[in-house]
Amino acid sequence: MPRELNEVGVVGLGTMGAGIAEVFARAGLSVTAVDVDDAAVRRGREHVDGSTGRAVSRGRLDPADRDAVLSRIRFTTGMDDLAAAELVVEAVPERRELKTGVLSALDRICPPDTILATNTSSLSVTELAVTTGRPGAVIGMHFFNPAPVMKLVEVVRTVVTEPSVVEDVEALATRLGKVPVVIGDRAGFVANALLFGYLNHAVAMYDSGSAGREDIDTAMRLGCGLPMGPFALLDLIGIDTAVEVLDTMYRQSSDRLHAPSPLLTQLAAAGMLGRKTGRGFYTYAAPHSAEVVPDAQTPAPGGTAEGARPVRSVGVVGSAGCASGTDRLTAAVEAAGLPVTSVIAFLGEPAPPSGPGDAELRLRWTGPLEDLAQADLVLVSADARPEGIGAVFAALGELTRPGTVLVATGRGPVVDLAVASGRPSDVVGLHVAGPDLRLAEVVSSVVTAPEAAATVRALCARLGAHAVACADRAGFVVDALLFPYLNDAVRMIEARYAGADDIDAAMTLGCGYPTGPVALLDEIGLDVALAAQQRLYAESREPGLAPAPLLQQLVTAGHLGRRTGRGFRDHPAR
Ligand code: 3HC
Repeated sequence: MPRELNEVGVVGLGTMGAGIAEVFARAGLSVTAVDVDDAAVRRGREHVDGSTGRAVSRGRLDPADRDAVLSRIRFTTGMDDLAAAELVVEAVPERRELKTGVLSALDRICPPDTILATNTSSLSVTELAVTTGRPGAVIGMHFFNPAPVMKLVEVVRTVVTEPSVVEDVEALATRLGKVPVVIGDRAGFVANALLFGYLNHAVAMYDSGSAGREDIDTAMRLGCGLPMGPFALLDLIGIDTAVEVLDTMYRQSSDRLHAPSPLLTQLAAAGMLGRKTGRGFYTYAAPHSAEVVPDAQTPAPGGTAEGARPVRSVGVVGSAGCASGTDRLTAAVEAAGLPVTSVIAFLGEPAPPSGPGDAELRLRWTGPLEDLAQADLVLVSADARPEGIGAVFAALGELTRPGTVLVATGRGPVVDLAVASGRPSDVVGLHVAGPDLRLAEVVSSVVTAPEAAATVRALCARLGAHAVACADRAGFVVDALLFPYLNDAVRMIEARYAGADDIDAAMTLGCGYPTGPVALLDEIGLDVALAAQQRLYAESREPGLAPAPLLQQLVTAGHLGRRTGRGFRDHPAR
């Protein structure tokens, strides 16, 4: 039977500590909330006042209940006031010496059966535990920001944590209305280990100029349904915390992808820590505000449609083997009232070589080629990249008028098709990501004319799709950020650190993802994920991007996910 804990303490009243104190008080517990000086305590109190005040104004909390919640929290600067606590959570800044100092003080002040919990997001709980005289009663209790909202609590047990302590903390987390996931002590635990690789990658992508800050944020919100894009989230978490978490992960994994991106360390050094200081990747109306104000760096998201060429008619070219790649786009173009001419290109057997060199693919068309020749923009289905798709672009380069924009839809690189067309500056990539047509990645190769890309962006606007601009890199924005994260989840299963259910719970309940990574892999198809990861690895040769062996093995075994009835989970036919 777990012990019912009613008298608790929180040390450190920053964003997380104040949020944790609120969570305890809302669940009816009596809370002693401690910080070093009056100013810090005042900030903590203001945080709880603000948060509960917002809940009242939204009709989520009765004013009388709010008073009761506030009356259950005693704010103080005296650590000795924690002498009667049955459990104390330390949430002081992520510096080892600070945390060990607090834990040693608590060890002296609190009775021997008081549980000492740490909300560390990056330090080893084991290393913190052994600095106290009661390592068996020390445990990780990792909340997620904002603590009153996010449902996950990672309960981190070390090799010396008493089983009864784990049980008590699990029961407490459940009583708080949270979902506890019990895991071992490894850098980043589950959620941060999967989240921060992705966040760091997004920073590197922005820093390399492949895509803009707002575009990456928009792409991940609309393309993956995430509640926030990576830069908005980094600003919420705090850039200093992000650097700490990544540093720890890097020290443990030696994976270069975890080494904090230089831009992060520079922002941290400059004190641009995110919302809490009023400036990070974005500039905010005031410290702790969520309201973004435009700053000097704010470019036009998605690039402009300035210089767009007029589009009065659209051609659609499907090729045998990937005829459906443009279906959704074609329907949207028709719905927008633009005349559409469709043709199918058949790529047949190679013709015998007429001289030395490669045989040319025999290309046949069905459909009104003369109308296609008059189109201002041609969408070419290049999703499955059938052999010979370059021949289609070569033929279109000759058939259509100069200035006609040739759009390669799909995931593949754009530059090879641009070269094949003989009119490289007119070729633009377009990848529609996500469940509907809300997000369109508009891809410029190194030779794409700005007006050609602007023409595609203007078309996207007519179709109601939100265009983001990106460079011609494997995976563009969404796939390049999504698939390595999915691959990391597979590695975590492979390493037997956490199972599919705990991983999915961590990401949905801790970070508000609509679907956990393991469930998403089964939906997307393990073969699709493997192919995407192989493309990313082939381009970068980054060891951390190599496809997880378990992913390869499941694909080889034909366990491709929901489509085949079996992937990471079984999917019985309905
Ligand atoms: N405190 C209390 N409540 C808050 C809050 C806060 N700081 N911020 C938002 N809320 C509440 C609102 O009151 C609202 O409640 P209601 O629905 O009952 O009225 C609800 O949350 C939704 O808020 P908003 O409508 O203002 O805004 P959004 O719908 O955009 O949600 C969000 C905001 C909950 C922050 C959402 O964007 C989200 O889930 N983002 C992802 C956050 C995330 O990934 N957190 C984990 C970070 S990693 C971490 O913390 C680990 C650490 O170790 C680094």
